[in-house]
Amino acid sequence: MAKFWSKSPVFERKLNESGAFIRRACNLAALASFALSPSMSIRHPAYPTVHVAPMMAWTDRHCRYLLRLASPSAQLFTEMVTTGALLYGKRRRLLDFDPAEHPVAVQLGGNEPEALATCARLAAERGYDEVNLNVGCPSSRVQDGEIGACLMAQPKRVADCIAAMREAVDIKVTVKCRLGIDDRDSDEFLDTFIATVAEAGCQTFYLHARLALLQGLSPAQNRSVPPLRYERVYALKQRFPNLRILLNGGIDSVQGVADALHHVDGVMIGRAAYHNPLLLADLHRALLDHSHAVDSFELFANYAEYTRREVQAGTPLKSMTRHLLGLFNGQPGARLYRQVLSDSRRLARNDPTLLHDAVGMLRRDLSSVA
Ligand SMILES: Cc1cc2nc3c(=O)[nH]c(=O)nc-3n(C[C@H](O)[C@H](O)[C@H](O)COP(=O)(O)O)c2cc1C
Repeated sequence: MAKFWSKSPVFERKLNESGAFIRRACNLAALASFALSPSMSIRHPAYPTVHVAPMMAWTDRHCRYLLRLASPSAQLFTEMVTTGALLYGKRRRLLDFDPAEHPVAVQLGGNEPEALATCARLAAERGYDEVNLNVGCPSSRVQDGEIGACLMAQPKRVADCIAAMREAVDIKVTVKCRLGIDDRDSDEFLDTFIATVAEAGCQTFYLHARLALLQGLSPAQNRSVPPLRYERVYALKQRFPNLRILLNGGIDSVQGVADALHHVDGVMIGRAAYHNPLLLADLHRALLDHSHAVDSFELFANYAEYTRREVQAGTPLKSMTRHLLGLFNGQPGARLYRQVLSDSRRLARNDPTLLHDAVGMLRRDLSSVA
């Protein structure tokens, strides 16, 4: 598909400068273990530097496919899947993913070692690269099930879960958690949690750099009201230099990643990656491959091809187009583009030409501007 605009040379230069800066500064091991083979197929680093956060109702397999089209290297995460859903629900659908998604991690929600071990085994058999335990979700429903962030108060129990999962699988078993919960806000509390869980063999922790407040805040508020405190994650890494500590929360730029990589082993990006998948392309270019170039139109065209295949296989168009809504935000014609893409009558007809018409709104506006 033709390109309708090119990025400014100044932006390109800045990006290249920050890329060089990042490579100089850190993560040499990850960079060294990553290489393009002569056939240009990607060999993934053992420890990816950039990870896309698990996001309920957002990072389904279609979203992950879109994000993979933007970046060949970022590790993707599923939405949280509870052990109950996996053991008694539609297992095949819940664990489904496209081979192109590698490296991809499944996030589990649970608190029983045996159930988590069984689910970890299912995930490993399905081919996931990593299984992650959710110890960061503050929602009241999750709390009622005694899973998520409230488990930070039970480090021994989390350690038992990790030990059982590690026993069951050969893939990486990791934890995503917060800095603390409610008034348990000290380094001592965090260190006890991390040390106890690490003792059970967990070597990788994704730290959402804020407290979880378990009473009175919605999950969305819990992602913005408690302040971000990166310095606490950086200090944690200093106290546990042998663990892989990754920073999550509020990272939304190449520079933000560059800053973090001075202090920690990698980053996890949530909302910014969802709303702007091209950030992942920029990061891949800055960190790993200077020649990597993807723009919104190319991304759109490749994803449109995917939707055509999926529609033929019986997937509802609506479940795929929703991830495209923000792709052209701020560009002329974006409102019309979104309108066409959200046309419920056409979506119900499952007709993939809808995508062609939607992107046509942008073309028309852009050509009228030119
Ligand atoms: C819509 C949405 C759903 C989320 N669902 C999950 C989830 O299933 N598991 C989890 O550990 N975190 C979940 N999170 C939290 C993110 O993984 C991440 O920790 C948080 O958004 C902070 O990172 P960010 O500022 O880069 O978005 C969710 C966040 C959003 C926006």
